[in-house]
Amino acid sequence: MTNGTYQFPKDFLWGVSTSAYQIEGAYNEDGKGASIWDQFVKIPGKIIDSTNGNIACDHYHRYESDIELLHQLGIQIYRFSVAWSRILPAGIGKPNQKGIDFYHRLLDNLLRYNIQPMLTMYHWDLPEALFQKGGFTSPEYNDWFLEYANTLITAFSDKVNYIVTYNQPFSIAFGGYYNQKRAPGICDLDLAIKAMANLLSSHGKCVKMFKELSRKNIGIILNLMQIESASTSQPDYESARLQDGIINRIFIDPLFKGSFPGDVLRYFTKQNADITPLLAIDPKELMQKGDFMGINYYTRRVIQNTADQDWAAKEVHLENAVYSDGGREVYPEGLYNQIQRISRLEPKLPLFITENGADYRDDTLEDYQRIAYHQSHIKIIARLCRENVNLKGYLLWTLMDNFEWENGYCGKYGLFSIAKNLDRVAKHSAKWYKKLIRENSIEL
Ligand code: FCB
Repeated sequence: MTNGTYQFPKDFLWGVSTSAYQIEGAYNEDGKGASIWDQFVKIPGKIIDSTNGNIACDHYHRYESDIELLHQLGIQIYRFSVAWSRILPAGIGKPNQKGIDFYHRLLDNLLRYNIQPMLTMYHWDLPEALFQKGGFTSPEYNDWFLEYANTLITAFSDKVNYIVTYNQPFSIAFGGYYNQKRAPGICDLDLAIKAMANLLSSHGKCVKMFKELSRKNIGIILNLMQIESASTSQPDYESARLQDGIINRIFIDPLFKGSFPGDVLRYFTKQNADITPLLAIDPKELMQKGDFMGINYYTRRVIQNTADQDWAAKEVHLENAVYSDGGREVYPEGLYNQIQRISRLEPKLPLFITENGADYRDDTLEDYQRIAYHQSHIKIIARLCRENVNLKGYLLWTLMDNFEWENGYCGKYGLFSIAKNLDRVAKHSAKWYKKLIRENSIEL
């Protein structure tokens, strides 16, 4: 560190993250099967602007120029996800060569520019055919995922540096099967618990399969949130603790300790939910966390107890806090706490920030608020690096404005905005990020 500038380690990787359904479009082209998101967007009222990902950013046809943009920014690592139903239209069975070819072309283009690929196997778009057979709650789910994973490993692992099994298991299980915000939009705690159990066991089995094939660099991505109590009152404190349990500890504990948090299990039981699917998993399988971990961090939630004691409780907004247009508090200190929390559990485990970003909805290209958000979080990264936390890289969410799930095209996190004719238009943040990557440093 000199003159208030922090120089990042030479091998620290700067990147961006994207996901298939949010950018690819071509939802029914070249043999792709339908996914649960292709279905979910058709339900009235689910997407705030009633849009869908049918065309999205048309990345499926524009991947070459998009990778050119990555290259111009100086991106060193690029995280993308594979659409399961492009590879296996029915979820299992006969692979679709055209789908496999698309990701080969994508990977070849990245490698041509020396951009390290990080491949996410699952970012929320389960093949609809598998959902019809029970999806994440089916006893056969583990076998389906392993078949898909094996297809990906066989096809792509020579070209890929890092493979992620799941993006945000919390969102898959609870967003999809409890709070109804995400596909498949079900509200049933028993099913959410079953889904969670299947996510954890299939992840563990996949890591084991990877090791048996002598492959390295497989991991999982957790979305960790800073959860705090709105006051020092016991009920607020307990609500906040429970929420931290369900969002954060319910995945941290099994992966690092091989068990589930007792307070969360007691709460589920009090709700008459069946926790046996969780208890049935072999602790050794639970602890197969892999070779690295990705952490998605966006915000802090301040929690007040509500009379009905639902775990979701009530999020309160503080008077002196700053919020993005998407309603999330800008709270960089939470990133510090959550990374330290994981690092303390296993200091040697390589960590990546695999998503971090802010939803500012105006159409200005002078997006200084977005830049300020990233700057404040990257300063935290500098502090963590100085404290010798094993942080390998920062992947910003996201390259370009895209289909932001239930927020449709209203949610905007991109370095590039998308014009009506789908041209990519650089925001100021794109120029800022390019400079930061080139200098590999930040003013403190
Ligand atoms: C994360 C998702 C990602 C994106 C950002 C804003 O939770 O993983 O796909 O929507 O939120």
